[in-house]
Amino acid sequence: MEASKEIVRAIVPETTPALEVASSFDELGLAAPILAAVKEMGYVIPTPIQQQAIPLVLAGRDLMAQAQTGTGKTAAFVLPLLQKMVPHANASASPARHPVRALVLTPTRELAIQVHESVVGYNKHLALRSTVVFGGVDMKAQLADLRGGVEILVATPGRLLDHANSRGVLLSQVQFLVLDEADRMLDMGFLPDLKRILDFLPTKRQTLLFSATFDDNIVGLARSFLQNPLKVEVAKRNTSADNVEQLVHKVKEENKLDALVQVVNSRDIAQVLVFTRTKVCADKVGHRLQKRGIKAAIIHGDKAQVERLAALEGFKQGKVQYLVATDIAARGLDIVELPCVVNYELPYAPEDYVHRIGRTGRAGASGLAVSLCAPDEERLLAGIERFIKRDLKATPLPETAPPPVRAIATSIMPATVSSETKGPFSQRFGRTRAEPVCALLLPPANQVEPTPTVATPA
Ligand SMILES: Nc1ncnc2c1ncn2[C@@H]1O[C@H](COP(=O)(O)OP(=O)(O)OP(=O)(O)O)[C@@H](O)[C@H]1O
Ligand SMILES: [Mg+2]
Repeated sequence: MEASKEIVRAIVPETTPALEVASSFDELGLAAPILAAVKEMGYVIPTPIQQQAIPLVLAGRDLMAQAQTGTGKTAAFVLPLLQKMVPHANASASPARHPVRALVLTPTRELAIQVHESVVGYNKHLALRSTVVFGGVDMKAQLADLRGGVEILVATPGRLLDHANSRGVLLSQVQFLVLDEADRMLDMGFLPDLKRILDFLPTKRQTLLFSATFDDNIVGLARSFLQNPLKVEVAKRNTSADNVEQLVHKVKEENKLDALVQVVNSRDIAQVLVFTRTKVCADKVGHRLQKRGIKAAIIHGDKAQVERLAALEGFKQGKVQYLVATDIAARGLDIVELPCVVNYELPYAPEDYVHRIGRTGRAGASGLAVSLCAPDEERLLAGIERFIKRDLKATPLPETAPPPVRAIATSIMPATVSSETKGPFSQRFGRTRAEPVCALLLPPANQVEPTPTVATPA
């Protein structure tokens, strides 16, 4: 324990505000091929969670890391893991030379695909192999990839267990385990699968938990999976993203569809992600919007995987204006410069509110989150306010057209500062909206048309 305190003091001075520990990626001890990939993504400065987590992961520590939505947690675990695996990169054709060394688990298929795309991007100049496995699609192609050998495996728990149980993948050499959206992965829905997966893994490994939210139960439970972990918190626990404007409109249930369209039209909102609590409601809202001639798509867990991916892809490429979703789309998804999220129905779990609205206002952009609150949802609203420790005052629905809301990339530092000292998101090139994100949806190649800082022992 004493040694762990020393590491924290040496690397993350406990009282230093996040931006004052700002360093360049060059100072983080990453190899040249990783730095080249980061540069090509357009990243100039590491975000606070990257500044804090990367050195600790490189130092071999187990972590429970919390930072607001859209602040670069993916790179905060992928970059140091790649660095740790650099000595294992090899071009051998033998699968035995490519055992799974890093396992990243996510709660949804779409997020697994996205995290794997990030791995591919950051791994671009290294010879490490990676793949992604998730349910709802044929296992055979996944099996062929796994049999060929991969160092980095991104997976959803159910499908990973299918492969592990049928010996399609060996997990006995895993050195690094990451739970992205860790609080979700440790809740009742995933815990049994997770425990079974842990039985396949060596006990001696480095385990990293990342999320924008952690509740006390999860913190307690997580300890049993971690060894002498450090807690890294950027901003206060469970805070919603800073740059998302949050509005509440009190609307009767039967008037919600009109209110939704009114919000979008009056503010000239180019694209909106609309959350409902149930699949039935998502279908109902989506179909009603379509009947009005609005370009709307629907994504929820009862849709075929190919439909889910097509809906998300169409939205990411700007082909549909409204994506109506259940909480399946609440966690982790990075939709470039999405200007607005609407809670058509408030979520039962207050942490879902934080994740839902975190689909906008990412990577330094500004965003708008509008909640349509019916009289019987007042209790849920109060729970959310308690959770985020903030009052969400209700305002009347917009009647006249206020200024348009678009996601405009903003620096978290003043516009006048020199490029060396600008915030991490001041120059962001990365993926553009038109770029397809999911390789699975691509047609064949010839048809193809981005507070306070505390690190403490947990
Ligand atoms: N240092 C950086 N500079 C500029 N952009 C960055 C940097 N790091 C990450 N990004 C971009 O920020 C966006 C959000 O990153 P990411 O999806 O990792 O956020 P997150 O913290 O995991 O959010 P969530 O809690 O919603 O999962 C991505 O588009 C990513 O490419
Ligand atoms: Mg994430």
